[in-house]
Amino acid sequence: MGAYVITGGSKLSGKLKVQGSKNASLPIIAATILNCNKSHIKNVPDIKDVHVMIDILTRLGADINFSGNELTIDTSKVNSWEVPENLMRKMRSSIILMGSLLGRFGKAKVSYPGGCEIGPRPIDLHLKGFAALGVKIKESHGFIYAETEKLKGANIHLDFPSVGATENLMLAAVLAEGRTVIRNAAKEPEIVNLQNFLNKMGCRIKGAGTDTIKIEGCSIDDLKPIEDYTVIPDRIAAGTYLAATAATRGNIVLENVIIEHIEPVLAKLREMGCSIKSKDDKVELWVDGPLKALDSLRTLPYPGFPTDMQAPMMALLSTAEGTSIITETVFENRFKHAEELRRMGADIKINGNTAIVKGVRKLTGAAVEAKDLRAGAALVIAGLAAEGKTVVEGISYIERGYERFAENLRTLGAKIENLD
Ligand code: EPZ
Repeated sequence: MGAYVITGGSKLSGKLKVQGSKNASLPIIAATILNCNKSHIKNVPDIKDVHVMIDILTRLGADINFSGNELTIDTSKVNSWEVPENLMRKMRSSIILMGSLLGRFGKAKVSYPGGCEIGPRPIDLHLKGFAALGVKIKESHGFIYAETEKLKGANIHLDFPSVGATENLMLAAVLAEGRTVIRNAAKEPEIVNLQNFLNKMGCRIKGAGTDTIKIEGCSIDDLKPIEDYTVIPDRIAAGTYLAATAATRGNIVLENVIIEHIEPVLAKLREMGCSIKSKDDKVELWVDGPLKALDSLRTLPYPGFPTDMQAPMMALLSTAEGTSIITETVFENRFKHAEELRRMGADIKINGNTAIVKGVRKLTGAAVEAKDLRAGAALVIAGLAAEGKTVVEGISYIERGYERFAENLRTLGAKIENLD
């Protein structure tokens, strides 16, 4: 699985260009299936999850070239609607392929997405939405078979503003007959990015970024190749580097950020006592005095505080003065990093979906293990702030979502080495 060896105590400093967004890239790669043509996409992060999606589309018949963060995908020869089970299991978010396979072929066969380290992560909202669009769903022996004669536009109300369900239903609805309205839709920036990509392809979608998205169905002949599309920067990667800088009391400038997308995180870092200056696509963070605890940190759907930043912030709050209360409202079981942080001397008590984090003067290096992508980033942050050496096992989780993570941190002055 590989590990990082971190020697704590160096203050991060310098400049870093933020990678393209993992969570914007994955649905956009799925969307390329719809136009049976070429798509050229820029600023795609070179991370494991993108390579899994590339492997899946290649197995379905696509011709793909990926180099220098530029992705060229030709889906004209895609001739299968069955997602290979072994690849599906590698990444649960490959469920996003259902929508575009249904749009292109009227059918899809996927295996039940592997459970995830952060909770059961059901897909009932996806399947209920597909059924509303006229899709027959059959589940047997761990596979989901979805089929329809013709996708028909529908009014869909999501019980929860699920990011994946919103994206999947957009992908299925663009080629449906008539209009689809998705209410209580997720409002994340990655949804807006997907709408912009699909509209550039010739689809007619409005409302992404609000809780109501309207999709006018069109025909596959209306869809065009995508000459050039640039993926938005990764707001969670940006937040992670800022939290790491705050934890080491350092000073960095991040480039290629969209300030509005990271505002929820900047607000909490300021509340802790970080100094932050932003201009155009740059943000600078430095720490002058002691960092204070947060009376309340509550994860919520966008534009609330992002659940993906909960673990990195828990690591940072472990070194702040005072007691912070973290409430995780999006996932059921997203505190697994707490027990690993305790091994480093953090004082954290978990009570259901609430974590009580009492800041300590210093964390101490230890051998710890990443259990999911963002938990892994949190352990690295704790290791950078800790006294002594930390070994973080399970870094393949981290490499799923962070491009050149250890290399970037080294550029910023961190003492972090790969242990193969
Ligand atoms: C996306 O996951 C992101 N992944 C996650 O990022 C992110 O944490 C999450 O949205 C919330 O922002 C990608 O975009 C690839 P959801 P997704 O559907 O779509 C429940 C990372 O670290 N739910 O919004 O799976 C679900 O159990 C990853 O980059 C249902 O009950 O998230 C969860 O409790 C982790 N039924 C909540 O909704 C459903 O049918 C939010 O899930 C679907 C979801």
